[in-house]
Amino acid sequence: MAWPELKAAVANCTACPLSKSRTQSVFGIGDEHAEWLLVGEAPGAEEDARGEPFVGQAGRLLDNMLASIGLTRGDNIYIANVLKCRPPRNRNPEAYEVAQCSPHLMRQIELIQPKLILAMGRFAVQALLDTDASIASLRGKRHRYRGVPLVVTYHPAYLLRNLPDKAKAWEDLCFARRVMADLKSGQGGN
Ligand code: URA
Repeated sequence: MAWPELKAAVANCTACPLSKSRTQSVFGIGDEHAEWLLVGEAPGAEEDARGEPFVGQAGRLLDNMLASIGLTRGDNIYIANVLKCRPPRNRNPEAYEVAQCSPHLMRQIELIQPKLILAMGRFAVQALLDTDASIASLRGKRHRYRGVPLVVTYHPAYLLRNLPDKAKAWEDLCFARRVMADLKSGQGGN
């Protein structure tokens, strides 16, 4: 599936019950040839209303964190979620919903061909690395999703509730930036 077909498939998807409660699906946004791909969990209320990922409070924190390492939304960055539709009351995604929806994310990754994926939070990590290991145990290492280097960090919404961990997330972004620099300088091998 190319971009237009994939966008239409997500917009019209009825594969799980979230299609009944959503205002609209939230496909993802950014540079379709970005080197950076950021993956979150699922749209919240503001994202469901506006059709764009990470535009609420967590998104503002994400933008500030990106700015702190010299990155700007839309500039060499693509942002997507594991689930394209909002779970009611922002509850956690269910396994069935992730199973139905994650092929959309997988296809986005194939089309974007990012140099580096930043997986933010438990559900992105579970979907991409197929592990239940804690974020704490996975941080600071270079993982791979189908050959693409992947770095793990906390979800911005978690950071809003756990402010002391913001420093750790900043370390993770600095680590990701170093991994990207190594990849670009040809020292990207594992
Ligand atoms: N949290 C996410 O994981 N994604 C969004 O788009 C917004 C909040």
